[in-house]
Amino acid sequence: MSKKIVVITGSPRKGGNSFAMTDAFIKAAEAKGHTVTRFDAAMKEVGGCRACETCFKTGKACSFDDDFNTIAPAILEADAVVFTTPVYWYSIPAQIKGVIDRLFSFVVGGKDIAGKECAIIACCEEEDMSVLDGVRIPIERSAALMKWKMVGEVLVPGVLNVGDIEKTDGCKQAAALADKF
Ligand SMILES: Cc1cc2nc3c(=O)[nH]c(=O)nc-3n(C[C@H](O)[C@H](O)[C@H](O)COP(=O)(O)O)c2cc1C
Repeated sequence: MSKKIVVITGSPRKGGNSFAMTDAFIKAAEAKGHTVTRFDAAMKEVGGCRACETCFKTGKACSFDDDFNTIAPAILEADAVVFTTPVYWYSIPAQIKGVIDRLFSFVVGGKDIAGKECAIIACCEEEDMSVLDGVRIPIERSAALMKWKMVGEVLVPGVLNVGDIEKTDGCKQAAALADKF
């Protein structure tokens, strides 16, 4: 079955490790007939949630009209959402965190977002897999709260510089992730 997949990236580094895995995933997903909408959060203007709780009251997801409102309709309609990101300071980079925080608009706005599929593609410099917990756990818990089903995770430690991902099987794993949808 062809699905609508939204891919939200967090790295500002074009051609970097998470982007290489993102490209591999999207290529494989499209080859399987899925429709992919990509949102490169670091190349957009997306601020944090202001907690004003006026979501959808002005006709748009967020009353503070930045680029989140351009991706919000696609997220609402999506069958699946894939987050792809490096680890920054044992956590989620600010660039993608703004998008995640503003998923709150769907909750406050009473939108029916349950039942989506979700996946993570993430990488970090250190070899210790627990470093990836800083992105894995918040995304898993947020997905659970929204009643999204985690279908796969590609978590690649030990990559620092652009191109390091090619020394791992990260892109192969990211392509294989497309089989989970
Ligand atoms: C601001 C910043 C903070 C980082 N913090 C961590 C960290 O806490 N742990 C870690 O293992 N790697 C850390 N890294 C390294 C990146 O996770 C790593 O280089 C990754 O491969 C970058 O992915 P990208 O090429 O997709 O941007 C950090 C990098 C930057 C730029």
